[in-house]
Amino acid sequence: MRKLIVGNWKMNGLGAALGEAQAVAAGLGEAPARVGLCPPATLVERMARGLAGSAVRVGGQDCRAEASGAYTGDVSAEMLADAGAVLVILGHSERRAGFGETDALVSAKVEAALRAGLEPIVCVGETLAEREAGRALSVVTGQVRGSLPAALAGRDFSVAYEPVWAIGTGLTPTTAQIEEVHAAVRAELRAVLGESGERAPILYGGSVKPSNAAEILSAAEVGGALVGGASLKAADFLGIIAGA
Ligand code: 13P
Repeated sequence: MRKLIVGNWKMNGLGAALGEAQAVAAGLGEAPARVGLCPPATLVERMARGLAGSAVRVGGQDCRAEASGAYTGDVSAEMLADAGAVLVILGHSERRAGFGETDALVSAKVEAALRAGLEPIVCVGETLAEREAGRALSVVTGQVRGSLPAALAGRDFSVAYEPVWAIGTGLTPTTAQIEEVHAAVRAELRAVLGESGERAPILYGGSVKPSNAAEILSAAEVGGALVGGASLKAADFLGIIAGA
C-alpha cells in the first residue's frame, strides 16, 4: 500500500499560505504516496476548493464530538465535511495536553468523524518522562485501546505515533524505537479491531523532515508520516513525500 503523508499546519497559515498547498499539488507528479494537508479551520474550505481535482486531500485538525449545539468556538465533524474536508486529526498531544482531552473524549470524536464521513487520524504518543520511566509501550497501547471505538471496524482510518518529546524539537527516536512502538500499536490494533486493525496505516510523526523521511518511512510498520513544521513549505513537504 502507498504511504500516507499528511501535513498538520497547526495554528499556522493565513490566506496567502494557500499558495504552498497549490505548489504541493502541482509538484506531486506521479506521487509515490497518498497526500493530505490539514490547515487551520479557517482555511479548510478555501484549500479544499483550491485543491479540488488534485490528489491532495484536505483535513481538519480537531472536531467536537457533537454535531451542533451551544459550544461556542468549536467546530463539528459535519462542519468540516461541509467545508470540503475528508480527513481529521484527532487526539493530537497538543490537544490532549493543552485541553485535557482524554482517551474517552478522543474516542467520541472518532465516532463523530465516522458519522460525518471523515477519515480519522488518531494520534498517540508518550512524553519523555513516560519513556524514561520505561512506560512508552504501555502508555501508547493504552491510548490505542482507549481512543479507538469499535465503530472503526471496516472503516478507513490511521493511527499516528507521535512521541511528545519529538514534536517540534528536532529530536527523533531511533529506527529501532519507532519499530518497537509501531509493532506494539499493530498488535493492539489487531486485538481491538481484528482485520480492520491489520489494514490501518500507522504513521510516524515528530520532527520528520526531508533529510530523515526516507529512513523513517522505510522502517517496519511505518505506513506514512504526520508532518508539522516541515509541511508549511511546499519544497520541504514535497521532499518528504519523495522519500516515501
Ligand atoms: P513537527 O513535525 O513540527 O515536529 O510536528 C509533528 C506533529 O505534531 C504533527 O502532528
